[in-house]
Amino acid sequence: MDSVKVLFVCLGNICRSPLAEAVFKHKIKGGRLESLVEADSCGTANYHVGDLPDHRTIANAQKNGVTIKHLGRQLCADDLDYYDLILAMDNSNHQNILRLSKAGSHRDKVKLMREFDPNGKGKDVPDPYYGSERDFQEVFDILNRTMDSFIAHLEKEHFSKG
Ligand code: 4NP
Repeated sequence: MDSVKVLFVCLGNICRSPLAEAVFKHKIKGGRLESLVEADSCGTANYHVGDLPDHRTIANAQKNGVTIKHLGRQLCADDLDYYDLILAMDNSNHQNILRLSKAGSHRDKVKLMREFDPNGKGKDVPDPYYGSERDFQEVFDILNRTMDSFIAHLEKEHFSKG
């Protein structure tokens, strides 16, 4: 069975997308998808290349039982070819990702993360960077429930027989 490569993308790659990656990996750990899916995260901007995730993201994730292990990196054109599914945290990230696609041929693999949110399809995952602990918890709650639907989508579309 072919593996699927998934990339989570935000602006800085220190708050939303490393959390999305960590929540995703946490949920598939020990299950069938663990060996079938490769996941990473990155940012459209270069402000935090090589940085650990924001300390508030790390602390909030820890409080919710999720450990984050990531160093910031910037999205590059090769990512658009390499990954099978590219999930943008918000509409602005989505536009910036597609700007890197020269022929526009990657449009189908670039999706909004919250296309999979049963409680807010198509909305942005809000940027918590200038927010409070409440905002970081809101981001966690959104990603936590959205990831369950996303994993169900992967199971159905990529790994179910027949
Ligand atoms: P992220 O949040 O895109 O969720 O990682 C941000 C992190 C840093 C900045 C903006 C948003 N910044 O302006 O440095």
